[in-house]
Amino acid sequence: MIENSKAIGVLDSGVGGLGIVKYLKELLPGENILYYADTAHMPYGSKSASEVKNLATNGMKYLCAKHELKLLIVACNTATVAGLECYRKHFPMPVIGVVKPGVKAAVSITKNKKIGLIATVGTVNSNTYPKLMVELDPSIKVYQMPCPKLAGIVENQDFNQDVISIAKSYLYPLLNNEIDSLILGCTHYPSLYHIIRPIVGKSMNVIDPSFFTVREVYDFLTQSLGRNPQREGYQIFYVSGQSWKFYQIAQKLLGYPINISSIRQTTSDFALSL
Ligand code: DGL
Repeated sequence: MIENSKAIGVLDSGVGGLGIVKYLKELLPGENILYYADTAHMPYGSKSASEVKNLATNGMKYLCAKHELKLLIVACNTATVAGLECYRKHFPMPVIGVVKPGVKAAVSITKNKKIGLIATVGTVNSNTYPKLMVELDPSIKVYQMPCPKLAGIVENQDFNQDVISIAKSYLYPLLNNEIDSLILGCTHYPSLYHIIRPIVGKSMNVIDPSFFTVREVYDFLTQSLGRNPQREGYQIFYVSGQSWKFYQIAQKLLGYPINISSIRQTTSDFALSL
């Protein structure tokens, strides 16, 4: 198979990585995309790093067993911080995570060098974002806030609870530190942009690492592996949990209809036995 026509694998615990799919479709419409949603094990954010690393590795193995891939995108911050280097050793194709692109964007955008990060408990506990930002610019101050409730709200589209108050309880402490930039350090959070933006105000730089990740993928493909020249690539979604639920929420979040036949239910046991 010609290298540039191979598919791109995208993995998340659930619907969060669909932001990556959306940007890929905008910037690289010819690319074929295989998406793995490990909804049977969502949330990753409250699990240990080694558990997340094993689950993510199994999801990637599943995709690699099904198709030839030219690139893997870990479209999950929690899985990226849990084991990016390990995935890179394990798989022959390039593996790109979402954290570094978000870090670089935030460091170049901030003016007052005070950056806020909202993320899962796993991502915050890893301390990866502050470490990488301070490596780039030692004068940066990073204020982190774990938001254990937000990913589940997005995954289940559970807007019956008072999401605005929950979001305020996470964001106000960061605003008290006079941050001028906020990283949405979990790929589920950009779906809550309409709630987050009014709380943080118009002047806040709100950074979605998924966007910057896809820009890096674009440059990387252009410079080395090659972009797929076809007009429109296919998308196949593998789901380890309830596929019907994923189908409904995915269509809403992607903002375009997806073919039900492009959703394939896998069992988590199968994924785990690979
Ligand atoms: N979307 C994942 C992330 O970026 C986490 C969601 C979860 O807790 O499973 O960290």
